[in-house]
Amino acid sequence: MDGPAAAGKGTLARALAERLALPYLDTGLLYRAVARRVLDAGHDPAAPAEDHAHRIVPQDLQRQDLRTPEVDQAASLVARQPAVRAALLGRQRDFGQALGAVVDGRDIGTVVFPDADMKFFITASTEARAQRRYRQRFGRDCRNAEQLEAETWQIAARDAQDSERANAPLRAAEDALLVETDRLDAGAVLELVCQALHRKGLIV
Ligand code: DC
Repeated sequence: MDGPAAAGKGTLARALAERLALPYLDTGLLYRAVARRVLDAGHDPAAPAEDHAHRIVPQDLQRQDLRTPEVDQAASLVARQPAVRAALLGRQRDFGQALGAVVDGRDIGTVVFPDADMKFFITASTEARAQRRYRQRFGRDCRNAEQLEAETWQIAARDAQDSERANAPLRAAEDALLVETDRLDAGAVLELVCQALHRKGLIV
């Protein structure tokens, strides 16, 4: 599952993993954990972070402070570094190859698992994603136009940074199924994805 921030990949991937009894890997969490280490060390997230990437341990992924706006931005910056991506690549592959898995990120279908059984590219309009991000953070809809605009702007800036980087940019693999989630709730998206897996003979 690839796609831009707050398109609903995480919710979908988690629900699909549960339905298929497969492990789930949120690869964004790896980049967030590297960013957290960089920030905690007082380093600039734009500076080389390869060493931090090599030091990631499972407990890093359980920290509660991985989804702050500061980490959003820093994770996108560390994710631009080829050496950081290379350091995290083997771990992602090891995880998926052992038992099979549902994996979400930005380059899963293009780089990490180019031979995945099935690839989805989950997307939604910037406005829908901004509203979703706000809801995740504050537990309610954003009714303040200015605040929503600020959130939309931040999402668009991060998309641009993730899509325009030279190394493993966010893009749909040629053989990915595109899923637009603007007008679908989480249950409907899960059904759609399961139907596609069924048509391909991957699930009964
Ligand atoms: O999915 P997320 O918002 O938690 O991801 C955090 C950052 O990590 C995001 O800016 C993109 C980057 N990322 C990436 O470059 N490649 C991945 N496979 C997953 C995330």
